[in-house]
Amino acid sequence: MYTLVTGGAGFIGSNLVRLLLEKGHQVTVLDNLLSGYRENLMPFPVVHFIEGDIRDEAAVSRAIDGAEVVFHLAASVGNTRSIEHPFEDAEINMLGTLRILEAARHNGVRKVVNTSSAGIFGELKYLPIKEDHPVEPDSPYGASKLGAEKLALAYGKLYDLEVVCLRYFNVYGVNQRYDAYGNAIPIFAHRILHNMPVIIFGDGEQTRDFVNVKDVALANLNAAAPGVSGAFNVASGTTITINALVRMMIEASGLQPAIEYGPPRPGDVRHSKADISAAHAAFGYQPTVDLPEGLQEYMDWMKMGVGGWGVGGGESD
Ligand SMILES: NC(=O)c1ccc[n+]([C@@H]2O[C@H](COP(=O)([O-])OP(=O)(O)OC[C@H]3O[C@@H](n4cnc5c(N)ncnc54)[C@H](O)[C@@H]3O)[C@@H](O)[C@H]2O)c1
Repeated sequence: MYTLVTGGAGFIGSNLVRLLLEKGHQVTVLDNLLSGYRENLMPFPVVHFIEGDIRDEAAVSRAIDGAEVVFHLAASVGNTRSIEHPFEDAEINMLGTLRILEAARHNGVRKVVNTSSAGIFGELKYLPIKEDHPVEPDSPYGASKLGAEKLALAYGKLYDLEVVCLRYFNVYGVNQRYDAYGNAIPIFAHRILHNMPVIIFGDGEQTRDFVNVKDVALANLNAAAPGVSGAFNVASGTTITINALVRMMIEASGLQPAIEYGPPRPGDVRHSKADISAAHAAFGYQPTVDLPEGLQEYMDWMKMGVGGWGVGGGESD
């Protein structure tokens, strides 16, 4: 099948590109490299890469030409970025998504797989979270991802266009670099591999649902099947405390950095865990990578120095 992956040069997008190519699909990527890396696509010379913005009508129309399925991952990502750049966040996540939806309906696209986020839920009222949990985002990012999800679902009702929205929880894995808006796992990995003390905010007993990027890529592919529509959680369906996560990462590194504790971060949820039974029922979603295995692979990848800062002599594959 012919596919367009927006945001395909990013962390999750590039893992999806790899899977699509392995399965024999044709891939065009549209990415403006705001937070993505051209290097992520270097192993895939067959990909048709278009450096462009999802808000740009001409670029979108060129990229979507001939696509049967659009995997829409391009976004301004993260709460911190959205608080610092609220207009850019809303323009990319809402208007950019609208541009993709408009182009999809005018170009005979069969399906849009839209990327949503657990950030739409805001403070959690019960665990594990089902899809019908109240949505009360507490950042511009959560709000713009919710708006984009609602737009996408409305287009699915209005037009001859199938739409599915995947609400990722905490995704980790290869190609997740350490940068200014890094999530916990890349920051911990950076400090562990530099033998710097690992700083945990709060008592470390808060829990998170970490899902490996390979499972997220698989969820995208399976959700693209005809007949799957609506909004679904994509997570591991399990939790781990931050203390246990850090111990697991340290073990995978073979190093012995110190662990220090800082004040809790305002706004951080205490516990998070998804109910993934709806995705399982709708498109057979079943996580395949367990955390120790996924973290070992991630730490090995970071050690090679491709995570952005040359630990271990800067080798790369
Ligand atoms: N990483 C997570 O834990 C997580 C959790 C929930 C949801 N998500 C969602 O998953 C998707 C991918 O995120 P990621 O973690 O891979 O982050 P990422 O920053 O690596 O990927 C986003 C990609 O979108 C591109 N992009 C940004 N603005 C663009 C624009 N205007 N035009 C074209 N391309 C643009 C970036 O250059 C980048 O390649 C996003 O939609 C994000 O909201 C991620």
